[in-house]
Amino acid sequence: MKPLSEIKIVISSDHAGYELKDKIIAYLKSKKVGEIKDYGAFSTESSDYPDFAHPMASAVSKGEYDFGISCCGTGNGINMASNRHSFVRSALCWTAEIAKLAREHNNANALSLPARFITEQEAYDIIDAFFSTDYEGGRHERRVEKIERF
Ligand code: RB5
Repeated sequence: MKPLSEIKIVISSDHAGYELKDKIIAYLKSKKVGEIKDYGAFSTESSDYPDFAHPMASAVSKGEYDFGISCCGTGNGINMASNRHSFVRSALCWTAEIAKLAREHNNANALSLPARFITEQEAYDIIDAFFSTDYEGGRHERRVEKIERF
């Protein structure tokens, strides 16, 4: 994995994930992330997660950013919308171990977080695990390639 200072990340949330998203942006900036683009939401006013997931995932799909991060209440809705985009492999992660395995086994290029079900520290631990773990390749290559073939 490249150092965080060389990684370009795009991030989004709905209203339920807005506060966690802002904390994550500050955390990543404190870690000197290469670039971070925020596609909203920009308040806790009720909103629809696909409106924010789609521009974020599109940017990952087109290769404009290396990785995406998304936050909604459960992580599910924003994860589902993200995974409609070709070449986006968004993993819903609620522990650091699941985040590590999403990188090692699934070559995940997007991380979805359940803002209402994890603490701020758990989110940071998940992010640290995700962005410090390489894809293992090997036996996983064929399986990951088949995700795009149906
Ligand atoms: C919003 O109330 C909530 O439904 C949303 O953040 C998310 O959990 C949907 O999957």
